[in-house]
Amino acid sequence: MNIVVTGGAGFIGANFVYFLLKNRPSDKVICFDALTYAGNLETLATAQFMPNFKFIRGDISDRAAVDELFTTMRPDVVVNFAAESHVDRSIDDPELFLRTNIIGTSVLLDACKKYGIKRFHQVSTDEVYGDLPLDKPELFFTETTNLHTSSPYSASKASADLLVQAYGRTYGIPATISRCSNNYGPYHFPEKLIPLMIINALNDKKLPVYGEGKNVRDWLYVEDHCRAIDMIIRHGRDGEVYNVGGHNERANIDVVEMILHILGKPESLIEFVTDRKGHDLRYAIDPSKIEHELGWKPKVKFEDGIKRTIDWYVEHEDWWKKIISGEYQQYYEKMYGNR
Ligand code: NAD
Ligand code: TYD
Repeated sequence: MNIVVTGGAGFIGANFVYFLLKNRPSDKVICFDALTYAGNLETLATAQFMPNFKFIRGDISDRAAVDELFTTMRPDVVVNFAAESHVDRSIDDPELFLRTNIIGTSVLLDACKKYGIKRFHQVSTDEVYGDLPLDKPELFFTETTNLHTSSPYSASKASADLLVQAYGRTYGIPATISRCSNNYGPYHFPEKLIPLMIINALNDKKLPVYGEGKNVRDWLYVEDHCRAIDMIIRHGRDGEVYNVGGHNERANIDVVEMILHILGKPESLIEFVTDRKGHDLRYAIDPSKIEHELGWKPKVKFEDGIKRTIDWYVEHEDWWKKIISGEYQQYYEKMYGNR
């Protein structure tokens, strides 16, 4: 099969590219990525040597570029990871999120309609369900939970999900959607909680925890997410949504303290800073559908995954030092300078 992976130079997309190259050697993997601040060709350096891998630089909201992708590569499957993905950036500048996440998805769907496709898979997020209260641990997001978004990021992802479902129903595009909880692992851009805290701790810099650090996220090791997507594109049913999560809820402060503990750094590095606007309280996925229907289960326990992730950042200083020495500095100053 020819599999186009959009956004494959970012965190989860790149992990998915490596997952396919390792586990599906008869597939051809084509990464289509605009290389925004979050895309990094160095992440794909090993893939570039593989004969069944090809990188094409392009923007999913550019109709001509997407047409050319479809006519030259003839994809059987498109997995759409390409997105603006950071909530804090969406609060600062929503418009770019609408262009990439909504228009970009619609351009890809139009190409699927025009050229035909065996499967379009939309990589979505549990954030489309909004949040759950902290004092009702018995509540979880299921696939039938109402969409109820809080940030421009989650609103743009929910809009894209609705378009995918509309194109499925109206034009018969064979499409699936996965809604996953927070991922962590190698190649995670250091604007997100876990890599930011690891790198700041390694540099003996303050660890900025929003509010009181009580917000809860449901963490999943990135490889488990990649395996779920691989199962859905091969065995999932057209038109279905699959929630992906590993019942691993943690308060932010507990995650931060765990990172400090593993690295042998003092808790005095923690600094409580002004809370995020509209900050979602708790995310928690009920993954029973994908477990029962496709036999997926997470394999990596958080205690192991977080150690693996920390080791990866310790061993790959070159990768993240280049990132934090560039425009990231201005981003950091803007987000955290006066917080
Ligand atoms: P990321 O920000 O690390 O990577 C995004 C990638 O998309 C980058 O390589 C970037 O260059 C590329 N891109 C951005 N705009 C593009 C455009 N217009 N055209 C082509 N490429 C473009 O994101 P991530 O964390 O890897 O997330 C990937 C997907 O998974 C996103 O759709 C996100 O909504 C979803 N998701 C993420 C998480 C998470 O915890 N990170 C959880 C659930 C779902
Ligand atoms: P993040 O990694 O941005 O993912 P998301 O908002 O999509 O869940 O943030 C995870 C949690 O960590 C979220 O509750 C916000 C919090 N957070 C901090 O406390 N400090 C930080 O510097 C960052 C980036 C996030």
